Amino acid sequence: MDSDSTVTLKSGNKMPVLGLGTWKLNERTADTIVSALQMGYRMIDTSGDYGTQPGIGEGLKKSGKSRDEYYLVTKVEEDDDAYQATKQDLSELGLEYADLMLIHRPPTRGVGTDLWRGLQRARDEGLTRDIGVSNYSVDQLKELMDKSGETPAVNQIEWSPFGFSRQMLEFCQHNGIIIQAYSPLTRGERLNDELLDELADKHETTPPLVLLRWSLQIGAVPIVKANQLNHLQENLEVFDFELDDEDMNRLNGLNDQYSSLSSKPMYIKS
Ligand SMILES: NC(=O)c1ccc[n+]([C@@H]2O[C@H](COP(=O)([O-])OP(=O)(O)OC[C@H]3O[C@@H](n4cnc5c(N)ncnc54)[C@H](OP(=O)(O)O)[C@@H]3O)[C@@H](O)[C@H]2O)c1
Repeated sequence: MDSDSTVTLKSGNKMPVLGLGTWKLNERTADTIVSALQMGYRMIDTSGDYGTQPGIGEGLKKSGKSRDEYYLVTKVEEDDDAYQATKQDLSELGLEYADLMLIHRPPTRGVGTDLWRGLQRARDEGLTRDIGVSNYSVDQLKELMDKSGETPAVNQIEWSPFGFSRQMLEFCQHNGIIIQAYSPLTRGERLNDELLDELADKHETTPPLVLLRWSLQIGAVPIVKANQLNHLQENLEVFDFELDDEDMNRLNGLNDQYSSLSSKPMYIKS
């Protein structure tokens, strides 16, 4: 596996196995995108509300990469008109289409069937190749699937050894939904951990890389944010080693439903 490796979505389209997150990547956005693409990143994750879309668009242009050399994920908000918001996102990015459009989070009422219809229209018109959701619980996924008759390609959720859900993993695997793992480094909050240190020593790597590698091996697609060039470069070393079964089991044992956003990840219901 390397940075050109892909997973296949249920549509048959391919998605890179590692993404660059851009929440708070508001400084030197364009230059960071150019560097990341040069280093080998192929997927960029953003959202209208991150404020990074214009900088990303500028960076994509500056990079000289052709459209099929990168994969762009963006999102619509729960109170948006999803079709119009898709057009707005694309206009900020200066792109003709996104590879994946997501509903950023489920609305307070219902599961976003109107939003879903808006994204379906956007896809029908070629504005995006695939559509999915973010922060949906298993019950919300089921309800959306029942009501729309379609399975989302992706559920983008907070996901690390410190906070994940076996039930979600099994449901997504069973239904061909790819989990995109956001905040895979816990935003740096849980990097000081004895087990991460021990496994980093064992594999001659670093604690952040152990976390990213766990994501890949559990079958998720990590979206990691890095503004600093040394972090960008280091994170690509996730492809240079492999955790064994015992390492994975021990990492799985760290799960205490940690979330850097609230008391537990949004998709885990009490
Ligand atoms: N769908 C949603 O609701 C949602 C919610 C949250 C996030 N996301 C997406 O997921 C992306 C990633 O999540 P995140 O930004 O919350 O957190 P994250 O990727 O877990 O952590 C980012 C932090 O880790 C640091 N870092 C990166 N590589 C490192 C390394 N090798 N060693 C030490 N520190 C390192 C970064 O520093 P520097 O930047 O200084 O290099 C930054 O401070 C977001 O950017 C966004 O695209 C989606």
